[in-house]
Amino acid sequence: MAGTDPAERAAELRALIEHHNYRYFVLDDPELTDAEFDDLVAELARLEAEHPGLASKRSPTVRVGGEASTLFAPVRHASPMMSLDKTTSYEELIAWGARMERLGAGRSATGDPAEPTQGSAAGSKGLRFTCELKIDGLALSLLYEQGTLVRAATRGDGDVGEDVTANVATVGAIPRALFAAGGPASTGESLTWGVPSLVEVRGELYMPIASFEELNRRQALAGSRQFINPRNAAAGSLRQKDPAVTASRDLGFWAYQLGAVEGGPGFARHSETLEWMRKAGFPVNPHIKVVEGLDEVDEYCRTWQDKRHSLDYEIDGVVVKLDDLAEQAELGSTSRAPRWAIAYKFPPEEKTTRLIDIMVSIGRTGKATPFAVLEPVVVGGARVSLATLHNEDQVRAKDVRPGDTVVVRRAGDVIPEVRGPIVALRPEGLAPWRFPDRCPACGGRLERAPGDSDTFCVNDGCPAQVVARITHFASRGAMDIEHLGEATVRQFVEAGILHDISDVYYMDYDKVATLEGWAGVSVANLRASVEASKRRSLANLLVGLSIRHLGAAGSQLLAGHFRSLDAIAAADADTLSRVDGVGPVIGASVAGFFAAEANRRIVERLRAAGVTFEDPRSEALPQVLAGLSIVVTGTLARWSREQAEAALKARGARSPGSVTKRTTLVVAGRDPGAAKIAKAAELGVPVVDEEAFEELLERGVPDS
Ligand code: IVH
Repeated sequence: MAGTDPAERAAELRALIEHHNYRYFVLDDPELTDAEFDDLVAELARLEAEHPGLASKRSPTVRVGGEASTLFAPVRHASPMMSLDKTTSYEELIAWGARMERLGAGRSATGDPAEPTQGSAAGSKGLRFTCELKIDGLALSLLYEQGTLVRAATRGDGDVGEDVTANVATVGAIPRALFAAGGPASTGESLTWGVPSLVEVRGELYMPIASFEELNRRQALAGSRQFINPRNAAAGSLRQKDPAVTASRDLGFWAYQLGAVEGGPGFARHSETLEWMRKAGFPVNPHIKVVEGLDEVDEYCRTWQDKRHSLDYEIDGVVVKLDDLAEQAELGSTSRAPRWAIAYKFPPEEKTTRLIDIMVSIGRTGKATPFAVLEPVVVGGARVSLATLHNEDQVRAKDVRPGDTVVVRRAGDVIPEVRGPIVALRPEGLAPWRFPDRCPACGGRLERAPGDSDTFCVNDGCPAQVVARITHFASRGAMDIEHLGEATVRQFVEAGILHDISDVYYMDYDKVATLEGWAGVSVANLRASVEASKRRSLANLLVGLSIRHLGAAGSQLLAGHFRSLDAIAAADADTLSRVDGVGPVIGASVAGFFAAEANRRIVERLRAAGVTFEDPRSEALPQVLAGLSIVVTGTLARWSREQAEAALKARGARSPGSVTKRTTLVVAGRDPGAAKIAKAAELGVPVVDEEAFEELLERGVPDS
């Protein structure tokens, strides 16, 4: 490059380095080897050293070079990054809003902000607020000079944060250069205003829930520590010495607050600043809403508290801000928080508590499931003292140890889970937990096959398995035997009345009558429900046999195809696997079940007792729902989705997946699809519950 002007070459190098940085960090598609890239940076550094006039604070040699790197250096915020006053009750939220309204209304009417104006509250629309989702991530301050990202910092203690520019520069959602209003600055569009000489944008960095789950799967495979929640995963991804690691993580960003602006447009409302940030290229959350008056604030909060799980990122509340910036300025801030904003926090779905012990429960197939015994804690609206840990690998990946302080999560109706330990709080000397090699119920060996994530007690006579199998046999989704719940089954197993599922039909009722809690009437009731269960469907009987991998859906398919238990028992694995929707895993498992001598004996005893082995042709059912179209949504308590749809079809109805004007009615269980319910409301299609659904199956649609 002899003869080239050093200034020109420096500019060229900077452009090249920017370009290759972008290829490497943002596109993850480098065009140069690391060594070639380092050569460019070294050449630029040499030029800058030889010609001090060329050096610049914003040169990539400053941002990229190891020595000159400012990563994690302390950064003082131009204005403090404040926190927000919080409330957890609607009453307090409304009281705060009412105070804002009084102050606003008072000022214009009487000039005295402390004096409420008569008649200003009820009926009037009140002040304007912006309602925003409170994103559960970490706050960032982004500084742009002449439209270019020059510094990104964490919140830190509010006054001083850490410089994370190099890492933030790899986050695709965060613009490295601002768009002028209406389009990218580089397109040279005519501007209604110039790019501000300086602007600070604040917002929340977060990790989408799906990406968090995927990251944890990858971490587990690599034998690395699990992240406890998406917020920790986002923070951990940002706090990386190597920006390439940050670049490999899926991070999102929502801008929610404009800081200092120099040489740019002025704004009268917070909502205008959001609009400007959106146009300048920042992601601004689409669910932000400007509302009039407290009723609408209240409605927004209630809506999002219900809908929080419909988002693919976590939120922990709503932030309400007075929209008028002059009014904001007038109200000012306390030392820690602005008076013009408040955070309404949803009831927490995560709490920490102490992990007392890890135990193993034995299920009906012998599966040994580890679970956490916790110091009881109220979380997600319920008292939680037990939580599943799924399997050995999960415990290892989470590395939870008895004695740890752990994060417990219970979201909506989902079963509680232990997300992980707080390692910083771990007492010294806690040993990692080891999966037991003996069954806690029968003392037999626990086995885990190569390639299988589950561990099993292989002793078929294990009392825990026997109780679980009989309880399942008698449960709603199987033979539906009233009065034969888990406690009763355990009592009967201990008394030697029940040993396997077929014993249900050979119980010694005289002996039952001698047991604690049993007398003439209760014995007669039990006897009647046992008798009634002999007429359950073939699919229900199959479910009741506790064949590994065979659930309600597979049972329906097999029953529908073979129409009798004997035909299923006679089929080989191959024939079973070829049934549409069944597949080799279930096929092999079912064939294996009927090949075992002990199981054949049980089947023969069931036959001898008079249990129905045939599937009545569906035409045999009264076609009470012929020609109707019934949509099922949400989780029913007593029916799986497949069972419910099969029951409808067996009675002549169609059960499509979406609501249209041809839909007769919608059956809604727990957590129904919001879109389906909304559509039904729009079209005037009736929505009914599970009880009405069961009535429907019996009697059809009542004439109205
Ligand atoms: S406004 C002065 N808006 O909540 C205004 N904060 O408890 C300060 N947050 O540190 C923040 N979503 O990390 C604001 N839409 C939102 C927010 C939000 C999440 C976080 C932010 C802040 C904390 C305050």
